[in-house]
Amino acid sequence: VSRRAVLAAALCGALFNGPAPAAPQADHAFAPIARVLQHPRCLNCHGGDFPRQTEQGTRHSQHVQRGADGRGAPAMRCASCHQAGNQGRVPGVAGWRMPPRSMDWQGLGSATLCRRIQDPRTNGGRASAEAVIEHLRHDPLVLWAWQPGADRAPPPLSHAEFLRLLEHWAALGMPCPAPGAVR
Ligand code: HEC
Ligand code: HEC
Repeated sequence: VSRRAVLAAALCGALFNGPAPAAPQADHAFAPIARVLQHPRCLNCHGGDFPRQTEQGTRHSQHVQRGADGRGAPAMRCASCHQAGNQGRVPGVAGWRMPPRSMDWQGLGSATLCRRIQDPRTNGGRASAEAVIEHLRHDPLVLWAWQPGADRAPPPLSHAEFLRLLEHWAALGMPCPAPGAVR
């Protein structure tokens, strides 16, 4: 048996004996990020036909609809109620609106979400990890989730910890959980 054959056999053995030691870390890098994306503060806006409210994600009161531009139907514009800051129970940030339909994340598992937020066709044309993270670092609608007003809970991690985990995930090459992963 040649050295090369031995080497090949050893390599195949390594492949078939399961993932390299670094892989479990890569597999799990997205899980805590997904728990933020799937939090009601984010999901209540990231829907299809209408926004949602409360921790349970119930349909927005008064039959509010997304409208053609995500800013509400003509008679029910988001900005007629949502101001540039939280006001009593009404949450607010300038530019309050729903994202494009390609960013409808209702019911998505972490594997799908992981691919959606890094695919320029479904993430608003952001072609690099840095562009994806930049949005999550600075966008006022994202930052609002950590100052949500009233009795609303913020996402389960601090914003600083969220960014640290995003940078770690990006450094690993933005690995995603296996397709079909439930959470
Ligand atoms: C008629 C007034 C009105 C209009 C129009 C309106 N909203 Fe609201 N919205 C509210 C009020 C009031 C609340 C707070 C409900 C509560 O928690 O008591 C709210 C809450 C929300 C929340 C819940 C935030 C959370 O995580 O709990 C989201 C998301 C939201 N609105 C999005 C929108 C969007 C997007 C539009 C436009 C498409 C819009 N709203 C139009 C009055 C309005
Ligand atoms: C008030 C509604 C609203 C809330 C609340 C909100 N978003 Fe968004 N989100 C938007 C809009 C509008 C866009 C599209 C803007 C753009 O692409 O620049 C967007 C785009 C995004 C994108 C870019 C798409 C992509 O895949 O890279 C990400 C990521 C994102 N939001 C994450 C979040 C996270 C995480 C939260 C909660 C911490 C959140 N959003 C809360 C409205 C909202």
